[in-house]
Amino acid sequence: MYRNKNVPGRAAYLAETIPLITAASQVAPHIFIWGFPESVARLVDHWPSHLKLEGWLTWFFKNAPSRSKSWRPSQQTCLHLRRRDGKLYPEHFYSEKHRALAAANRLEFKMTPYSVFQEALLSGFIKRSEQTGFRYQKPESVIEPLLRMTTKPGDLVIDPTAGSGTTGAAAVRLGCAALLSDRSAAAIKLCRERLAAHLDSP
Ligand SMILES: C[S@@+](CC[C@H](N)C(=O)[O-])C[C@H]1O[C@@H](n2cnc3c(N)ncnc32)[C@H](O)[C@@H]1O
Repeated sequence: MYRNKNVPGRAAYLAETIPLITAASQVAPHIFIWGFPESVARLVDHWPSHLKLEGWLTWFFKNAPSRSKSWRPSQQTCLHLRRRDGKLYPEHFYSEKHRALAAANRLEFKMTPYSVFQEALLSGFIKRSEQTGFRYQKPESVIEPLLRMTTKPGDLVIDPTAGSGTTGAAAVRLGCAALLSDRSAAAIKLCRERLAAHLDSP
């Protein structure tokens, strides 16, 4: 889910976003909310009490154009909220060796991923074959760890603000089903083109 600051004011942002989080928690044990740090920070302590803040995740990129005289924007935030019954799968990040040690109950340090991902913005020659032309497209490698931590093959992933369909592309690559929607017809068209091979209906 993507929520950003184009909704004016803290109160209006909360009034629109908290009901979405509440509704999402009725169907999903894990919720990820993306946005600029100064937007999603407004949500702290306002989500329903049955959701726990599992992680404050940061996507760090160094290749944003610098247009201001002040700090150069180089991050986006993703809040991971978890229902009590939401399972985590840290073992999805283990190597063969770690898996064997875990099976023998001898894995002392859990090799879980960092909460900061460094991945370049998709622009210019960066991962050209992945680029769809959608202005706000995220790299699949930024979405993939979120899904690996919280899903197993066969699970359903829902993205109501799908943009170019990155969540769907990462989900099907991991063997999950995906349900995508967006208010923009152009975004839906892009999702359809990108995921044509995986559509249930044309
Ligand atoms: C930042 S983009 C998502 C980018 C996506 N993760 C990707 O990699 O392509 C945000 C998307 O949310 C959609 N959106 C914003 N508010 C929405 C709403 N209230 N309902 C449905 N879609 C919405 C926009 O149309 C836009 O396509």
